Amino acid sequence: MKVAVLGFGTVGVGVYEMLQHAQGLEAGPVLVRPGKDDAPFKVTTIEQIVQDPSVGAVAEVMGGVEPAFSYGAAVLRAGKHFVTSNKALVAAKGIELNAIAREHGAAFLFSAACGGGVPFLHNLSIARESDEILSMGGILNGTTNYMLDAMQRLGLDYGDALKDAQRLGYAEADPRADVSGLDALRKIMLACAVAYDALPTEGLLNEGIESVTAADVAHFRSRGYTCRLLAKGSRAGGEKVSAYVEPVLLRDGAPECAVLANYNMASYEGKCSGPIVLMGQGAGRYPTASAVLRDLGCILHGKHYMLQENCRLANADNSRNEHAYYVRLPAEHAAEIPAESAELDGDVVRIITKPVSVSQMHFMAERLRAAGVELFFAAIGG
Ligand SMILES: NC(=O)c1ccc[n+]([C@@H]2O[C@H](COP(=O)([O-])OP(=O)(O)OC[C@H]3O[C@@H](n4cnc5c(N)ncnc54)[C@H](OP(=O)(O)O)[C@@H]3O)[C@@H](O)[C@H]2O)c1
Repeated sequence: MKVAVLGFGTVGVGVYEMLQHAQGLEAGPVLVRPGKDDAPFKVTTIEQIVQDPSVGAVAEVMGGVEPAFSYGAAVLRAGKHFVTSNKALVAAKGIELNAIAREHGAAFLFSAACGGGVPFLHNLSIARESDEILSMGGILNGTTNYMLDAMQRLGLDYGDALKDAQRLGYAEADPRADVSGLDALRKIMLACAVAYDALPTEGLLNEGIESVTAADVAHFRSRGYTCRLLAKGSRAGGEKVSAYVEPVLLRDGAPECAVLANYNMASYEGKCSGPIVLMGQGAGRYPTASAVLRDLGCILHGKHYMLQENCRLANADNSRNEHAYYVRLPAEHAAEIPAESAELDGDVVRIITKPVSVSQMHFMAERLRAAGVELFFAAIGG
């Protein structure tokens, strides 16, 4: 099967190189911007790919929702299979692309959009056919894991950990999607769509790591805790799912504590299988390209879809999951948090809350921040 590649950046170059050696696959034309067509295999319009009868599949590795969506829709309408590493595209337009693919008998797969090289969605999409997926999630963002790990093991403060992640090529020049938890949230949205036929778009909650300090991390260490940014998804009754991202304090010895640097750990719990844990590189040229090639291999073996025909947009309900939280905030605002215990540390107070729901905690933090209060919170053991 000849595969055209849309985009020739970090992942695109890796996909093109891997296609030179992959069994049953062949590298086709590569779409680049006008002026960058400096080699015979490069083309500058999508029509050159859509109208090429020798192209059987297209791998989109450009990023962004447009023109990726229009291009994907055009190639699917031409009956060509479409695979993508683009989580923003699938979170925004996955249901539409799935419908167009099914209508035209073409495949639509997006394993690389969640977990990079870690075959999370791939396994989830197979497991859900025979088992009930009770919950899923894990460490789905390598940049923030690198930063939290560097703050803990190297004693860096937040700014230096971010600079290090950028120097090593883990964080984007604009790292907001990573550090705010949005990147991990998009990934758990895709996992919910795969496992539960529900792509949540409303009611989602994401707390990132932007307000964690070196003093917070030192405090966690002194209490035997490691902080990780975790994404979580589960059913929430009826048509709803629970889907959120937040920092979590884990007791030393928990499997997530062993995930160092920019690695990812994705897991799901099947009713029959019990917990399944997958660990590996969540980003990078070749790990991500390997997931794109895995999808293309799946197409050769007849697996065409990760989303069921009835997959729909859904609301998230995060009011049923309850746990205690660590909250650090200025001492004068201590009374605004339902505390189980509190420890005064100079001008700030470190509170362990009574059990509260995920939505209650996120809304409390939103309300306090809107009033100008600086705080950090993390679930305990959650
Ligand atoms: N990098 C990773 O480790 C990783 C991991 C998992 C998933 N992903 C996803 O994979 C996708 C690509 O990521 P990347 O890191 O490879 O990005 P990248 O290095 O920025 O590469 C994207 C390439 O696509 C080109 N491009 C963008 N729009 C185009 C258009 N309209 N026509 C032709 N070419 C266009 C860009 O060209 P210009 O430079 O001229 O704009 C660039 O060469 C993103 O969706 C990302 O989220 C990446």
